[in-house]
Amino acid sequence: MYTHQKNSPSSNVEWLMPPALIAALGEFDLDPCTPAVMPWRTPKYRYTLDDDGLSCPWFGRIWLNPPFGPHAAKWLDKLRRHGNGVALIPARTETRMFFSSVWGHADGLCFIKGRVRFHYPDGRRSASCINAPVCLVAYGSRNLAALHGCGLGVVVSAGKPVRRREGRP
Ligand SMILES: C[S@@+](CC[C@H](N)C(=O)[O-])C[C@H]1O[C@@H](n2cnc3c(N)ncnc32)[C@H](O)[C@@H]1O
Repeated sequence: MYTHQKNSPSSNVEWLMPPALIAALGEFDLDPCTPAVMPWRTPKYRYTLDDDGLSCPWFGRIWLNPPFGPHAAKWLDKLRRHGNGVALIPARTETRMFFSSVWGHADGLCFIKGRVRFHYPDGRRSASCINAPVCLVAYGSRNLAALHGCGLGVVVSAGKPVRRREGRP
């Protein structure tokens, strides 16, 4: 199992999600990882690197677009434990992070159609797309409903695996 992919967007932790994509998911209470200045309105509350959003308390409905790279798994694990929110992560379904926090843990996924062009912290749109497909991961039934209603891609359930009983086919 891979931990991350060579062509992941890990070289830049400041990729901002296009605001229209977040808006399609409804209102969030907290974004735990944001640059010092956001070029547009985001959830009511947010943390920055100075706060260290990973160690701060999380509350309400979370929007999570974690700093890409090896620490992304810790952020996603915290959202899994919190149980209420949506995360944007690379759609690397074979990775350790997917198995520890998505498959069998999340309520559902939305594989975003096409490649996403992110924004820089000054609001400019990047000229190129990141070199990876991305997906949204929902924790909690309200967030799964938001994925179904967002129209951004194909939604699949990532529900708990069904265990076969001994002796049954
Ligand atoms: C991929 S960007 C996401 C920005 C924004 N949340 C969005 O969705 O558009 C990740 C952000 O996390 C910030 N960050 C990195 N480490 C952090 C930490 N320990 N606590 C809070 N924010 C952090 C980075 O500065 C960067 O702005």
